[in-house]
Amino acid sequence: MELNKPDIKPTQSLGYLVFDMNQIKKIQLKIGSDLELQDNHKQLSFSFRDQIIVKNIKETFNNSGIYKISKNDIVKIGRNPMNNNLILENEILVSKSHCAIWPIQFEENSAPLIYLKDTSLNGVYVNDQLVGKNEIVLLEDGDTIEIKLVIKFVLRYRTYFKNLIESQSNVIDIQPVSSKWNISNRLVGCGTFGSVFIAKNIDKMSLTKTCAVKVIKASNMEVQIREAELLSSLNHPNIIKIFECHYENGKIYLFEELICGGDLFSYLARGEHLKALSEPDCAIIMYQILQAVGYLHSNGIVHRDLKLDNILLTSPESLSKIVLTDFGTAFKYDDRYKRMKTVVGTCEYTAPEVGLLNSSDNYGAPNSQTGYTSKCDMWSIGVILHIILSGISPFYMDGEERNIIKASRNCHLDFGKRQWKKVSLDAQDLIKHLLVLDQVQRFDCEDCLNHSWLDYYRELLDMIYRSKILRN
Ligand SMILES: Nc1ncnc2c1ncn2[C@@H]1O[C@H](COP(=O)(O)OP(=O)(O)O)[C@@H](O)[C@H]1O
Ligand SMILES: [Mg+2]
Repeated sequence: MELNKPDIKPTQSLGYLVFDMNQIKKIQLKIGSDLELQDNHKQLSFSFRDQIIVKNIKETFNNSGIYKISKNDIVKIGRNPMNNNLILENEILVSKSHCAIWPIQFEENSAPLIYLKDTSLNGVYVNDQLVGKNEIVLLEDGDTIEIKLVIKFVLRYRTYFKNLIESQSNVIDIQPVSSKWNISNRLVGCGTFGSVFIAKNIDKMSLTKTCAVKVIKASNMEVQIREAELLSSLNHPNIIKIFECHYENGKIYLFEELICGGDLFSYLARGEHLKALSEPDCAIIMYQILQAVGYLHSNGIVHRDLKLDNILLTSPESLSKIVLTDFGTAFKYDDRYKRMKTVVGTCEYTAPEVGLLNSSDNYGAPNSQTGYTSKCDMWSIGVILHIILSGISPFYMDGEERNIIKASRNCHLDFGKRQWKKVSLDAQDLIKHLLVLDQVQRFDCEDCLNHSWLDYYRELLDMIYRSKILRN
């Protein structure tokens, strides 16, 4: 018998909103996306006193008042019929977009984190506590969510996940004594160097109530001390902020802001495949990555591990703010023109000049002693742009490291596949300037921002960045 085998399928819901119907006079519930609404007029109107009258309803919301929370779904609640899933007709008490609830699941079988964002004037209350405009809270099983005098419902995690969360209560064996944060058993994600958990502020009155803490084993001490020191010296809206760092119990605890929309990998992942995004969506993501990486490079810092997993979103939807994280392999060079020689990164995204240099098997490439520069980040950005536009990783092949490195070394780009049919030649051209073997020829951040593909959207991008994204 296999232990820990989940009783869930990817298509099943992650949790439920269970409604207390007695307080509501009239609700409209829209099923599915805006597109479905326009096509099929599936907007539902039902009123009830003690009993719910439901017309033409899919299984999303059944007679017992349960609304399923599914992966990659964002439940929007408010007055505006066009962009909400749950429409509450109350001019006075309900805002056009009142609040949103979404789950983030790091891996297929890991317990989701279900967040609520308050976007209202009158407020949303969780367990009778006001969330506050533009604040995001992590919801726990059994939490009561309320728009006063309008609607009240309870969040339930799927039983499997509820049990999983409870069974993980000893995940963090030792808490750092000197910290003002209490580390919880809620896992946010994990990677090569550490595991990231939710931590709660011991001081209930503090403005920052929750944060993310990256816990790193002592064996990687050097790496993480560097990460902490580097991050403390940075200040950019698209780069993760660090609150505190502790060295205790043979571990390093890096307390940083919690980014609640998951990473770009989980945003794109659809089972075995990655979803492609529209060109404007890609442009706004690229624009932000370039702002952040341009800032790093102008401060003499190379990230060296840019990839989908290290790019976070503040909410899992288009026009989200992007935040770069994971500075574990980042490097500050004193002399801008000094070359680096350490092999780092994730081979799918790593520029050929980085991975091949010190490798004993150089996969047929000419061995060079020239090292690499900050341009290695631009190669990774090229891979990222290729993926978000098409859903295809350019050099992934069969996933074997050896073949990935060979393919990057060949640098053959195939825009003939059907996934590229809808992608503009301009966008493809930018990729061709990033995935270039010659570091000197390879575009830098400024070249990218001036390239015709981004230049086309430039005014719009500047405007969205200033008026929406930086306010998030
Ligand atoms: N501050 C954060 N807020 C939200 N999620 C995070 C945060 N930091 C990391 N994560 C999640 O945890 C994963 C691992 O963290 P990361 O810092 O990349 O560790 P590693 O160095 O081990 O790769 C990330 O891919 C991301 O999904
Ligand atoms: Mg990482």
